[in-house]
Amino acid sequence: MPNAYISGTGMFVPPRVVTNDQLAKEFGMDTTHEWIVQRTGIEERHYADEGVGTSDIAVPAAEQAIERAGIEKTDLDMIIFATLSPDHCFPGSGVYLQKKLGLCDGAAAKFVPALDVRNQCSGFLYGLSTATAMVKSGACKHVLVVGAEVHSHALDLSTRGRTVGSLFGDAAGAVVVSATDEDRGIRSWHLGADGRYADVLAQRIWDIKRFPFIPLDEHGVGQVQPEMMWAQMEGKLVFRNAIERMMTVLMEACVANGITGQDIDLFVFHQANLRINQYLQQHLGIPDEKVVHNIQKYGNTTAATIPTLLAEAEQSGKLKRGMKVAMIAFGSGFTWGCVIADW
Ligand SMILES: CC(C)(COP(=O)(O)OP(=O)(O)OC[C@H]1O[C@@H](n2cnc3c(N)ncnc32)[C@H](O)[C@@H]1OP(=O)(O)O)[C@@H](O)C(=O)NCCC(=O)NCCS
Repeated sequence: MPNAYISGTGMFVPPRVVTNDQLAKEFGMDTTHEWIVQRTGIEERHYADEGVGTSDIAVPAAEQAIERAGIEKTDLDMIIFATLSPDHCFPGSGVYLQKKLGLCDGAAAKFVPALDVRNQCSGFLYGLSTATAMVKSGACKHVLVVGAEVHSHALDLSTRGRTVGSLFGDAAGAVVVSATDEDRGIRSWHLGADGRYADVLAQRIWDIKRFPFIPLDEHGVGQVQPEMMWAQMEGKLVFRNAIERMMTVLMEACVANGITGQDIDLFVFHQANLRINQYLQQHLGIPDEKVVHNIQKYGNTTAATIPTLLAEAEQSGKLKRGMKVAMIAFGSGFTWGCVIADW
């Protein structure tokens, strides 16, 4: 059975920066830079321009990962696309990315499977685990895993939506998972979910139980109430569960690999709130140099947090061959995961 390793990383953030002050001044949100920084660590985030979709920003991230993996696009055997802000309700963003990468063009067209993952902030680790299983089984040699979000277009940026709206940003990250006979790569993955909390952090823009699924006015035009249109969140409950689940799944992964936290060279935590990660770091006694963050400049980019951190850490030289890496995520569902890799 081959090993599966991350052979290339890539990322892209849309150029438009929105600071905390701009949320207040340009969007009219009753908030302050101090409030957001103190509670979350976020200083600014990037928003995609109108007309730019999630599969669009995934293209440069994917191309960078493919190039750094040293392969051609046509070497890919599968695309896995994790997002909570897909271009459309259906089809998934994976097929749009496939087309935009040029994989459907010309004589070299390769109609590889494209799978969308709908696990929000844990989506990238669910996708990475699936890719690893596909590679280890021998079914695929190279799998592209993308985590990308254009969440800003679906955020209530008024005062009504400030608890959620101030947290999120847009970004795309990508990795290529490849087969190798070398003794390296993804050692184990540990995923979990607790559907009792499905409604605690959710965007229920429609309700398929209803007929029709979106209420219509007398002219047949769909009407979506604000509490359905925008994501709703019980922030404190999410905060507590994030700490508990991320801590537990990391311990589970350490036990499974016969290691302790001290054997891990780099911790790549999902970027939901700097305070969540600082709490984990403090309670697990993890030194600053073993942790990477990017929430300060991008906000919570949901499925994109971990692949963008990997790309930044690798490209800056902080993440090097031979290092033991722990990737840990938690999100809506609730869902969570931890992946241990020898880089
Ligand atoms: C969202 C979060 C920062 C809010 O912090 P909190 O201390 O729990 O704050 P609360 O939600 O209790 O709100 C306290 C007050 O701040 C207000 N507030 C919320 N967002 C605000 C903002 N951006 N600016 C100013 N005030 C804000 C609330 O309206 C509330 O006002 P009220 O007391 O007049 O009703 C925090 O709960 C959190 O980070 N939770 C986890 C979120 C998360 O990780 N989500 C993604 C999961 S992957």
